[in-house]
Parts: sequence; structure tokens; C-alpha cells
Amino acid sequence: MKGVIMNVPVTLTTEPKPIPEDVGDTFGAYFTDHMFLMNYTAGRGWHDHRIVPFGPVPVHPSASAIQYGQSIFDGYKAYRCEDGMVRLFRPQAHIERINRSTARMCMPQVDPQDLLAAMVQLVDLDRDWIPHQKGKALYVRETMIGTEGYMAVRPSAEYLFLLFLSPVGNYYAEGVNPVNILVSDSYVRAARGGIGAAKAAANYGASLLATEEAKAKEYTQVLWLDSVERRFIEEVGTMNIMMKIGDEIVTPPLTDSILPGVTRLSALQLLREWGLKVSERQVDINDLMDGVRSGLVDEVWGVGTAAVVSPVGQLTYSDRSVVIGGGRTGAVTQRLYDAITRLHTMPGPDPYGWRIDVPPRAAG
Ligand SMILES: Cc1ncc(COP(=O)(O)O)c(C=O)c1O
Repeated sequence: MKGVIMNVPVTLTTEPKPIPEDVGDTFGAYFTDHMFLMNYTAGRGWHDHRIVPFGPVPVHPSASAIQYGQSIFDGYKAYRCEDGMVRLFRPQAHIERINRSTARMCMPQVDPQDLLAAMVQLVDLDRDWIPHQKGKALYVRETMIGTEGYMAVRPSAEYLFLLFLSPVGNYYAEGVNPVNILVSDSYVRAARGGIGAAKAAANYGASLLATEEAKAKEYTQVLWLDSVERRFIEEVGTMNIMMKIGDEIVTPPLTDSILPGVTRLSALQLLREWGLKVSERQVDINDLMDGVRSGLVDEVWGVGTAAVVSPVGQLTYSDRSVVIGGGRTGAVTQRLYDAITRLHTMPGPDPYGWRIDVPPRAAG
């Protein structure tokens, strides 16, 4: 953890909240006692780094985040590991993505070292909130919003960066059991040339209606197709998608309408290390449906920070439904889930150097 200097001024809460004994299957229902903030002003850069009690932040009614969607976020998890150490899982990869998202949205870059130091300090301060139960973790949410009070459509000259924490359980009520997915043939998540590869708030607003309609029909999530031909598979809900076609593991190649997931990166590295044949290539939804029906495709799963690895048990497209792998979790899906969750909480250094230690204050 060399180079991570903890020097952000802290104002402690005077009203600490009770820490839940078990957050259940909630995702984002609880927030810890503190948050990190910093401000940006054009010509001055980032300033006023601080940790303060968690709570509302005042925002100008004409802020570009509110009026024109200059708002990005990112998120990853901190785990309580088997040796008692708290560790952040791949925070640098998420910080790199923040800087790609902000570049796309005409927002300022953050200093990776400064932000990592703030993350370590904040997670350390609120470490008692990290769940003890297996599979549960502390979700770290980073957000940047344009805050300048100005009406014209142009990039804001002022920004607020927020870092806050939420103890979370399983993202899906199904846990690691197969989920039921509806292929969206009337809505798209992101268009070519658009902002789909950025973790921009607007992408999530755009996805709500399709997801709500799917949930009303008892589906867990939506599978998104490309915006041009409406037939190539892009993502599943808030996860990247992978499938086993014969003995080949396939995931769509990254484009400007797909979010480049960090879990996708971890999964691809592991799958290749295991000697499996892995391809990043386009898959037509009709071929996938036919492949499942013939038995050629026997596993489909999503990968993402929130759900980690989530098997798809059933897929519905144009009123036709197929059950994948008998509706059970397949061997590759399970192996990937076991391997990634092991890396989250294993003792000592991990083989890839993906994790950052958060030593307790006394030892820090
Ligand atoms: C649209 C979308 N795709 C994919 C992912 C998976 O990304 P990651 O593995 O970095 O969490 C997410 C979650 O962040 C997402 O929101």
C-alpha cells in the first residue's frame, strides 16, 4: 500500500447511526456515517478535500448535473478478508474508468493517487460498517457532478466529487441462483457514438423504463441489443455478458455502447489462465436462442461488481423463451464465481496485486 498517504481533514459525525447487524439482500439501503468530498474550480483544480458527516449536499438549481446530465459515477467493493484485513478490490481499475467517463462528459480528471488515498482513509474510518457475513461487502460509490450555477449548455466550470459507502448484500434476491432475463427489442440502452461506454448517470435513466416493464412481467433484468441492427448482444442489465458456446467462451467485444466492466476484465483473465478458448466477438441474439434450444449454448452469465457472477437461467425474446442449461448454474459459471469471490476475501496478497489493503488506524 505504498504511496497512499492519509491526510484528508476529518469532521466526525456527532450523531453516529446504529450499524445494522445484517443488511439482508439490500443494495444501497444503508449509508455509513461519513463521506469524502472535494471541489473543482476551472483554473484552480481540485481543492477542499475533506471527510465530513454523511448527508445531503446543497446544489445550485441550474447546475449542469441537474439540467444537462453532467453526472458520472463508479463503484466497487471493500471486503473483510479471512485474515481480518480490509481490502479494496481493484480500485485503481475503477479510478481509470472514472477518468475515461469524465473525459467523455467534458468533466475534469481526478488524481488517481489522491483519490485512492481518500478511499483508504474513508473506508478505514467507517470500517465497522463492513458486513461480516460471507458474500456481503461495503460498496464504495464515487460520483462527480457539474455544480456551476449557469444556464447555457456548455461544460460546467465547477464540480463536486463525492465518495460514500453502503454496506450491501446480494444484488439480486436470487443470490447466485439463475435469473430470468427479457431481451429488449423495443428499447436500447446506448447508441453508437453515444455515451454507453461512460458510467454516465444518463445511461441509467435511459434504462429504467425497459427494466421496470421487464420486472412487471416477473423478469429480473433486461438483455440489451445493439442500437443499429437490434440483433447483436451488448450487455445484461448492469452486467457484461458471457456465454459458453460449445467449448468456446464468448463475450461481445467492447464498443462505445458497452460499459467496459472491471469484473469482465477479471473474468477474461481467469478464463484464459484456465486454458479455455475465449473469444471477444459479436453474437446475434437469434443464434444465441437457437444455440440454447439445440443445447450448443449451455451457460450464459453476467459479470459485474454488484452481482459478481450471475447465471442466466431463462431468456425470453419476441415471446419465445428458452431455458439455459436446465435452469441450473453451469460448471464454468460456478468456477468463475468461486474464483472471483475467493479473490475478494482470501488472506494475504492476491496473485494479481489487484487488492489494496486498508490497515486499521492503529497500524496505519
Ligand atoms: C451497464 C453496466 N455494464 C456492466 C457493468 C459491470 O461493470 P463492473 O464489472 O466494472 O462493475 C456495470 C456495473 O458497473 C454496468 O452498470
